[in-house]
Amino acid sequence: MTGPGFNTVRVDLADRNADRNADRNYDARIGAGLLPSLPVAATAALGRDIRAACVVIDTNARPHAALVTDALRAAGAQLAEIEIHATEKAKSLETLEQILTVMGKARLERADPVIAIGGGITGDLAGFAAATYRRGVPVIQCPTTLLSMVDASVGGKTGVNLEVAGTLQKNMVGAFHQPALVIADIDTLATLPDREFHAGLAECIKHGLIDDTTPNDSTPNDATDHTPHLAWIEHALDQILARNPDTLIQLITRSVAFKASVVRNDERETAKSGGGRALLNLGHTFAHAIETLHHLSPTSNPADAPLLHGEAVGLGLIAAATTAAHAGLAPQELPQHITHLLTRCNLPTRVAGLPDHQHILALMGADKKTTHGKLRLVLPCGQHRAMVVDNLDKAPILAGLESISLV
Ligand SMILES: NC(=O)c1ccc[n+]([C@@H]2O[C@H](COP(=O)([O-])OP(=O)(O)OC[C@H]3O[C@@H](n4cnc5c(N)ncnc54)[C@H](O)[C@@H]3O)[C@@H](O)[C@H]2O)c1
Repeated sequence: MTGPGFNTVRVDLADRNADRNADRNYDARIGAGLLPSLPVAATAALGRDIRAACVVIDTNARPHAALVTDALRAAGAQLAEIEIHATEKAKSLETLEQILTVMGKARLERADPVIAIGGGITGDLAGFAAATYRRGVPVIQCPTTLLSMVDASVGGKTGVNLEVAGTLQKNMVGAFHQPALVIADIDTLATLPDREFHAGLAECIKHGLIDDTTPNDSTPNDATDHTPHLAWIEHALDQILARNPDTLIQLITRSVAFKASVVRNDERETAKSGGGRALLNLGHTFAHAIETLHHLSPTSNPADAPLLHGEAVGLGLIAAATTAAHAGLAPQELPQHITHLLTRCNLPTRVAGLPDHQHILALMGADKKTTHGKLRLVLPCGQHRAMVVDNLDKAPILAGLESISLV
């Protein structure tokens, strides 16, 4: 679990097919100063040295990427590089094609990995390219935002958005493709703007609301700390906001351990009972809908539009908690509790300019989880446990939307 200077979370996949899974289990390393060691870690993970690779680089993570590309070239690897301007609009089939074309031109083979260095957009795009090039090559995820460290880089969901009739449908095209290795180097967070950092905290809070127990093996630096995740975040929040390195490593390790435990039990989100991986979508049906409304700003300044994914997730958590409370599924004080915590994280808790709620309901209906036209929501339901709720009346959902609407 703990190595020299870093924590390791082993992502084990359920052994329905033990032989196949033996190859697919992987490590997520979390620590400082890890990027230059990628060639050595990759050799251990892939079982061979990297001969050639496609490196997909988030423009804003360029300085960090140089640590990886220099180390790989020094180790003799041939690299094809492509830079991504990370926007939801660019998380598209067009950008995917550009990555695949770079890979094709470099004549990369099936053993040659894709290496993603950037936030969740870069990781999702690079992962999808790896899933589809030659029907699948390995991907190594090097997340450089808090959100991608705690969530997007682990679990194997990859994909792009689809624009249909002028509306962006989030993550509508994609594939499950687990990484071979995840390297979360917290040094990269030094350049991350505050707003992006705070957005990542929304996903950490989401994890605490889904199941507020201590994830297995989550606190290798302090094995005696069994504080439930949400309470731990509340207690450590000042240190988190100050970006204390040890606290960040612990936060990321906890969240990754939690996500790994969920993915292990329901890798492809097919669980028939208990919610399984679908619980990770807590608040996301609201979030994905309001994320498509590009005029929404987290502040009174319209120039701050659009909302970041994590900001939309935070608003989605409040809307989901209010919906649950109105439906009698959660304690009445839960929405206020979440609102208070998100406020401490400098995240928006209300947003001006939401369109007619019927319009948002229609956008929510375009969510991937909708089946036979029926909305499927994941709601936080008391004792910090989330559950999947189908066919809820409209009234509690409208109350949820009302709770995040600033008039
Ligand atoms: N695959 C999954 O399981 C999963 C889970 C959660 C979210 N997601 C996806 O992840 C995306 C959101 O990820 P995100 O919040 O990382 O956003 P992002 O990829 O857009 O990155 C946020 C911003 O930070 C910049 N950036 C990245 N690293 C930086 C650094 N070290 N220093 C300075 N700037 C940096 C990026 O260029 C971008 O402008 C969404 O598209 C969401 O759908 C996927």
